[in-house]
Order: sequence, then structure tokens, then C-alpha cells
Amino acid sequence: MRVHVADHPLITHKLTVLRNKNTPSVIFRALTEELVTLLAYEATRAVRVEPVDIETPVTSTTGVTLSQPKPLVVPILRAGLGMLEGMVRLMPSAEVGFLGMVRNEETLEPTTYAERLPEDLSDRQCFVLDPMLATGGSLGTAIEFLFKRGAVDVTAICLLAAPEGLAALEKATEGRDVTIVLGALDERLNEHGYIVPGLGDAGDRLYGTV
Ligand code: PRP
Ligand code: URA
Repeated sequence: MRVHVADHPLITHKLTVLRNKNTPSVIFRALTEELVTLLAYEATRAVRVEPVDIETPVTSTTGVTLSQPKPLVVPILRAGLGMLEGMVRLMPSAEVGFLGMVRNEETLEPTTYAERLPEDLSDRQCFVLDPMLATGGSLGTAIEFLFKRGAVDVTAICLLAAPEGLAALEKATEGRDVTIVLGALDERLNEHGYIVPGLGDAGDRLYGTV
């Protein structure tokens, strides 16, 4: 598993505003989209392209276009939905599928409650969106699901991760082609499975449900 932690002052600045408990939902949503677009630039570095011949006003030349099958973007509901717009802004021709997952706040085990994905993901590059990688249970389940459907490689974009969750995910995805792109790697998980210092409950903060 490859892990890329963003190292850019603008990303750290925007994350600092997100972490602040006084930041209202409307700002939180806008910043989440901006951060995803910045992280998506790194996450799509290995996106597959193929040559295409075009005419400029001056001459004929060869450029590139996204290869078929087009990449699949998969936000994990609910909080991952807040990242979708920022991702498709950078890659508008990608297809979008959905996974709905919620973790039990007592056991910290994830449950999948919704799935709307192409049946066959053979040869697909998949990009999973979830702001929080805490225990890694939700993301690990989602990634395994995509590989079982035939995905060729999976890149996940997360705003924050805990080292414990990253380690668990590395074990769970052994032998798979997985890349994780992070806005920041935080210190630890607390006794409730929350990322510290973190930003709280990403879904609640995005959608104003407290
Ligand atoms: C949050 C978050 C991740 C998950 C991370 O979702 O968006 O999906 O928790 O925790 P884990 O790494 O320990 O699995 P949550 O279950 O709160 O659902 P929500 O997006 O609907 O708020
Ligand atoms: N889910 C969240 O939204 N935040 C955390 O810190 C952990 C899981």
C-alpha cells in the first residue's frame, strides 16, 4: 500500500479551518470541496490516458485523453458525498458509483447499507472518497468490495487518518494495488475511535446534524 501525505501550506491552512470546532457547516462544505480538488491532483497522477490526434488552429498534434473504461469515483455515504463535487470538478468525465456505510459507534464495525456500482469493475481504476480513515474498517470494507468486483487498482482520498487505521488497512489490503492520499496523518485514535486531534464527526459537521 502506498501512502502519500500532502505537504503543502495551503492544504494545512484549509485543514486548520476545518478542524476548528467553530467553523460552520457552510464553510466546512466549501473547504472540503477545495481540499479534495487539491488532493485529487496527486491522487490522479497515475490515471490511465491514451494518445489522441487533434488539430490545433496551427497544426496537427497528438495529446492524451482518459482511457476506457473511464475511472470510477466512489464516495462513501454520507460524509464522502461532501467530497464528490471537488473530485468531479477535476475529472468531469469519470463515472460515479455509491457505497453507503455506517460504523456502529459501540463496536466500531462498519455496515454497508447501500450499493450502487457497476456490476463489473474489470480493468477499472477506482477512486474512493471518505474524509476520515479512523480504524480503517469502513475504507477496508469498501476497497475489498471494489476488488471483488474486478477493480484493477484503488486510490482512496481522505482528509485525515489515524496511524492505527492506516496500519490496519495495510494488513487488510495486503497484495492489492492500493494508494492512500491524505491531507494529514494525525496522532492517534481516542477511546471512542475518533481521530485526535481530528475534526470531530465529519458527516455531522458537513450536514449540520449535531
Ligand atoms: C465516518 C467516516 C468514515 C468512518 C471512518 O462515517 O466518514 O466512513 O466513519 O471510521 P472507521 O475508519 O473507524 O471505519 P460514519 O460511520 O460516521 O457515517 P457518516 O458518514 O454517515 O457520518
Ligand atoms: N468518523 C468521523 O467522522 N470522525 C472520526 O474522527 C472518526 C470517525
